[in-house]
Amino acid sequence: MITTPETRVCASIANPVSPLGCLMHNVAFEHLKLNYVYFAFTVTDVENAVKGMRALNFRGFSVSMPHKIAVMKYLDNVDETAKAIGAVNTVINDDGVLTGYNSDWIGAITALKEATKIQGNKVLVVGAGGAARAIVYGLSKEGANFKIINRTVTKAKELAKKYNAESGGLEELKNLSNYDIVMNTTPVGFKNPKDSPIPKNLLSSKQTVFDVVFMPLESKLIQEAKEIGCKTTPGWKMLLYQAVWQFEKYTGKKAPVEVMEKALKDWANK
Ligand code: ATR
Repeated sequence: MITTPETRVCASIANPVSPLGCLMHNVAFEHLKLNYVYFAFTVTDVENAVKGMRALNFRGFSVSMPHKIAVMKYLDNVDETAKAIGAVNTVINDDGVLTGYNSDWIGAITALKEATKIQGNKVLVVGAGGAARAIVYGLSKEGANFKIINRTVTKAKELAKKYNAESGGLEELKNLSNYDIVMNTTPVGFKNPKDSPIPKNLLSSKQTVFDVVFMPLESKLIQEAKEIGCKTTPGWKMLLYQAVWQFEKYTGKKAPVEVMEKALKDWANK
């Protein structure tokens, strides 16, 4: 594309940065013929990265691991939801004022709602890291009844306390049949695609299975859940819908969701 002085600039910052934000946003800008461009930067010095983007009047930026918490102290405002979650994944620059938001929970809840209703259902959340923090915020907002389990039980307990939820260790998996929805928020299956955080024999067809893992597009957990007949929500949907929310915030336009989805799938299937 040819940029002009009017071009609005957006970016992802992370370490290492993923190419996927760049890909989804740039195809969407192009599709709608918007004078926007999106870059991806691997950043170690968040403070100076934010200063630089502020000075260059970037329209906004996406923040990924490991900067989602650290970035907050360099912004002018952090919205209430991002504060409650304790992490920012999106920054918008409105006339020089930088505000931090979190769209991870929106991505997760939008994706899960395509498969099942949430309110009133019993949910087991596996993992208590950054992804879990955004997801349980969304679950709580939707009125789900959830329990958080984690390899390190103290972390699950700490997170659950914020929501008056139950917590426990991974041995709770043996009671999986008590739950309507099971959500993996750990990277198991991402680093090694032959791994699944939940043994297949514990799943049952009436359940909905959600996985944050988006590479491969269908993790082992999602593949096995499908084989059993469960409803499933693969991680790429959360990734897509959090980006859709960002796109609409950056541009004020409705995101071309199918175009973004196709770009993501084409990349993953390469
Ligand atoms: P993210 O921001 O992607 O959620 P994170 O904050 O490092 O990443 O959290 C990763 C989560 O996955 C943690 O709950 C972690 O468990 P611990 O708190 O015990 O470290 C969990 N996790 C990572 N690898 C795991 C594994 N092999 N088995 C079970 N849980 C795992």
